[in-house]
Amino acid sequence: MVGLQWGDEGKGKVVDHYAASADFVVRCQGGANAGHTVWVDGRKMVGHLLPSGAFHPDPICVIGAGVVLDLESLCEEIDALNAVGLEVEKRLRVSRLAHLVLPYHKILDRGRDRLPSMGLPIGTTGRGIGPAYSDKMRRVGLRVGDLDRGESVVRSLLQARLEEMAPVMERQGMEYPDLEATLDLLLSLGNRLQPCFVDTGHLIREAIRTGRRVLFEGAQGTLLDIDHGTYPFVTSSTSSALGLGPGSGVPSRSIEHILGVVKAYATRVGEGPFPTEEKGAHGESLREKGKEFGATTGRPRRCGWLDLPALGYSVALNGIDALALTKIDVLGGQEGLKICVGYEDMSGNEIPFTPESHVLEEVIPIYEEMVGWPEQEVGSSELPEGALRYIERIESFVGVPVVFVGTGPDRNHSVLRHGGL
Ligand code: IMP
Repeated sequence: MVGLQWGDEGKGKVVDHYAASADFVVRCQGGANAGHTVWVDGRKMVGHLLPSGAFHPDPICVIGAGVVLDLESLCEEIDALNAVGLEVEKRLRVSRLAHLVLPYHKILDRGRDRLPSMGLPIGTTGRGIGPAYSDKMRRVGLRVGDLDRGESVVRSLLQARLEEMAPVMERQGMEYPDLEATLDLLLSLGNRLQPCFVDTGHLIREAIRTGRRVLFEGAQGTLLDIDHGTYPFVTSSTSSALGLGPGSGVPSRSIEHILGVVKAYATRVGEGPFPTEEKGAHGESLREKGKEFGATTGRPRRCGWLDLPALGYSVALNGIDALALTKIDVLGGQEGLKICVGYEDMSGNEIPFTPESHVLEEVIPIYEEMVGWPEQEVGSSELPEGALRYIERIESFVGVPVVFVGTGPDRNHSVLRHGGL
């Protein structure tokens, strides 16, 4: 299951729905930059690193090799779930191959957008994601499995990193973390989570071989994919479905169905092209009604109309079998409802979708006016006529059925179509 826009599609709620019947729920990429919100019995639960399966009592929750892991953030999440009676530690498995997000990664990340030498401002979540993946690709990162190699090994690995990075942070006027404090923190958190550290690739391959139900949960969204998204305004991992196999350690062909999650309108946090953005009253109304504020950073999200050319691209890239459409209720009662069906340039020439940011910045969206529908009761199990027409327009444009429609925030606020997935 993957997001088809710029993240924040409402994946948490959809995974939560399917996790109820899964034996394993697996995170494959990203880190604590993700923020999935699930409403359980009127209570708001927000996860960052734990798969959304954690909100059910049974599934085994797996953090795969492709994730970058902030141990502090993970322990805080586990403690928050414990506090509401959801015990997750015993059914949590963390890949020994996953790379660690260290305190200096977060410091570098937060400094990034202030420094012209670091490139264009991106508006990252400040969770250390880019710097951690960067160390991984440079082959100098620390991994979960390093934590039980003994204090002296961890110390020397960490010392090498800090010696390299301290001058960088110093030059940029940033305070950098102390070696001993970082070492103590890592070893104590590592010690606590030690029983969870396993070979998750083997675990999942065996699960698949023995016919267990495994749900792979994407984080962020396809248009934030490092290779196929709107670079450089992207995250640092493969956030499309192309990353699910490598991030979890299973052959991609063993993934049977790919469900894409799309919000009924579009949002984006941080910088980057957004052709259908509505900067005026329409955008404000979507933000207020849809409560479009970041689950991780609290930042207001940029809002606009659904972009079908972008969606068509994501459907094709991921090989999507079926769609889950979220937050259709937010469009109820919206004045001047529109849907983007193409792009053109200033001279009226049609432009196909491309993730190349400099091209996408310039395109002019071509809209179809849609017949709206009156506001429905939140969580309604009936879809109004106008909403059905809207859904059918999406299906006919991208050629994939919408099997799940979110009609409100709670776990049970949804309608299944075409027999579900
Ligand atoms: P980073 O992943 O923190 O490096 O941020 C890179 C870009 O991806 C920024 O524009 C973020 O706002 C965006 N981003 C990262 N994670 C999420 C997410 O879970 N939802 C929406 N946007 C995200």
